Amino acid sequence: MKKLILFFALLLAGASSGLRADEGMWLPSEILKKIKDIQSKGFKLSAEDIYSVNKSSLKDAVVRFGGGCTGELISSQGLLITNHHCGYGQIQQHSSVEHDYLTDGFWAMSRAEELPNPGLSVSFLEYMIDVTDDVMKGYKPSMTEEKRTELVNKNSKKIEEKAVKGNKYLRANVRPIYYGNQYFLFVYKVYTDVRLVGAPPSSIGKFGGDTDNWMWPRHTGDFSLFRVYAGADNEPAEYDPNNVPFQPKRFFKVNAAGISEGDFTMVYGFPGRTNEYLFSDAVKYTALISNPHKIALRTLRLDIQKEYMNKDRAIRIKYASKNAGVSNAWKKWQGEAKGILKMRAIENKQDFEAKFDKWAEGKAEYENLVERFKELYATIEELSLVQDYQTEALNAVELISFAGRGQRGAERFYKDYHMPIDKASFVALYNAYNKNIADKYKAPYFKEQLQKYGSVEAWGNALFTEQPNMEMAAEIYKQTNDYFKANIAPTLEAVNKELAIMYRAYMRGQMEYNEATKGGKLFYPDANSTLRVAYGQVKGYKPADAIYYTPVSSLDGVIEKDNPEIYDYNIPQKLRDLHAAKDYGQWEVNGSVPVAFIATNHTSGGNSGSPVLDANGNLIGVNFDRVWEGTMSDVVYDPEICRNIALDIRFALFVIDKLAGANHLLDEMEILK
Ligand code: ARG
Ligand code: GLU
Repeated sequence: MKKLILFFALLLAGASSGLRADEGMWLPSEILKKIKDIQSKGFKLSAEDIYSVNKSSLKDAVVRFGGGCTGELISSQGLLITNHHCGYGQIQQHSSVEHDYLTDGFWAMSRAEELPNPGLSVSFLEYMIDVTDDVMKGYKPSMTEEKRTELVNKNSKKIEEKAVKGNKYLRANVRPIYYGNQYFLFVYKVYTDVRLVGAPPSSIGKFGGDTDNWMWPRHTGDFSLFRVYAGADNEPAEYDPNNVPFQPKRFFKVNAAGISEGDFTMVYGFPGRTNEYLFSDAVKYTALISNPHKIALRTLRLDIQKEYMNKDRAIRIKYASKNAGVSNAWKKWQGEAKGILKMRAIENKQDFEAKFDKWAEGKAEYENLVERFKELYATIEELSLVQDYQTEALNAVELISFAGRGQRGAERFYKDYHMPIDKASFVALYNAYNKNIADKYKAPYFKEQLQKYGSVEAWGNALFTEQPNMEMAAEIYKQTNDYFKANIAPTLEAVNKELAIMYRAYMRGQMEYNEATKGGKLFYPDANSTLRVAYGQVKGYKPADAIYYTPVSSLDGVIEKDNPEIYDYNIPQKLRDLHAAKDYGQWEVNGSVPVAFIATNHTSGGNSGSPVLDANGNLIGVNFDRVWEGTMSDVVYDPEICRNIALDIRFALFVIDKLAGANHLLDEMEILK
């Protein structure tokens, strides 16, 4: 084990020569091994400034926000900034036709007006540490994978319990990296009283809607403000009107002096999931089969939702958050598939695998990997598609999954439910399933019902009666999911178990091969919702032949796109007036106000809301997206095209100042000019 750990410790440093520029998301506790390179790119601080357990460091100003975003502290009074789309669920929950904060924005003009959000929490990373030795304690190479998993789980649980010592506001997770070749413990402190402070109107915060989503040039003011509250002792506490603003160990100073092309940038946040070391057939399945099918299914739902949302304001509010969620992955999958094919990532991986296979000859650990990967991926191709249809078609009908989950959260479910949308979705999705999935994979119940009613439409009429038939909905869920679990899932699970073992070896193999051939390839652990550092620079890109995109957008571009006829482009009149009067105050740059910029930081879903820092660790932006042509970076990164998109912090300051008149918020920040 010791030898293995040493090997990985070395690898974590990344190969030191021939690095591909700016690719990688690095573990903060290992950043010392990267600091020379980071500094050579312009960073002025030390590794200890990025991550330290002994003194306050930049990490102390970064939080995991809710389930899937990042946020950062920007005042000594617990003020937090994240994306508008990260606070979207909360903003929507506080909205109604009378108080339409989605459309009109929301600004608490005093602390008393800040709105509590049950269920929302933010987590600060206290520390992280390599616990591979402890996790593997008692491991023998003769163990089966089941025994190994059992041991890992048991040891991990012990480590986690010891780390939280019964403190209910501490949370500990042992997480594997490099497919379980290494394990880290992450300990968080969780604050549960987090209040909404401010949000611009959606016509700023979600400007351009799903049309501009994942795209550059971009003009979205994608930010919202929250405040973390604590008990009198500054420790986490359940919501209580008497709680006080939390005083963080560290908050970011805001750099309003601006950025230009070539400037150093660092993104510090919680990317969710990447798969950079996959076998070619897995990438092929994603690009050529899975994504196209899932895209088609979501197109059906989105078209139906749009039709109803355009007709009725109340329905638009009800479905705003759901629609954005469905649309988001739908659009990303399209860019990802295109990017994979354009980069010839499948062919490149196949070339690599052929060489690897040769090299592996006579090496017991790696010898048959390539062959076996091919066999296994062939075995599960059809079943994986059945699985995709289970989630994206059968279970995607709202009523059916709601009934199937025992009607939990009924009040909230019905608040945002419109049956005609769901009924039309049922008809479209169940027809698609019926057409595209082979009969041998369908539950007998599905086939019987279809036969009984004669068509999906008639079946839908029986299910969506005036009072929806909850019994039938629950039965559909139960029957199709039970069938899936009994007949499809076991093979998938068995194969995935074997794949897990193989990937653990393949990961080591790829690294060893790289050492042996001096490949200069860069290794960093796949994202797994743990804190990471990415660094790069502000930089434009060429999305296609004869087009070059410059890296900074401005308010003039917002005005160019402004269109009162289109909901997503209909900016507030006040913004038009400010523009017409050039009333930009101190936020004016070259006759306009900067809105967003792109940079080469390697980010992923979950990095939304992440601080984008300058060379001195001050806040210059808030990450919110990636460019569409580069969304394949979850699978394969292209330094020429992959760019993260950040809100320029000065646009947020301008909106808070000139549009909201919430100057008390600017007063709490430390703004450097
Ligand atoms: N694409 C961004 C992300 O993945 C923003 C999504 C929210 N915006 C939207 N129009 N759906 O989270
Ligand atoms: N908008 C994404 C999020 O919610 C970040 C964009 C990305 O996937 O890079 O995390």
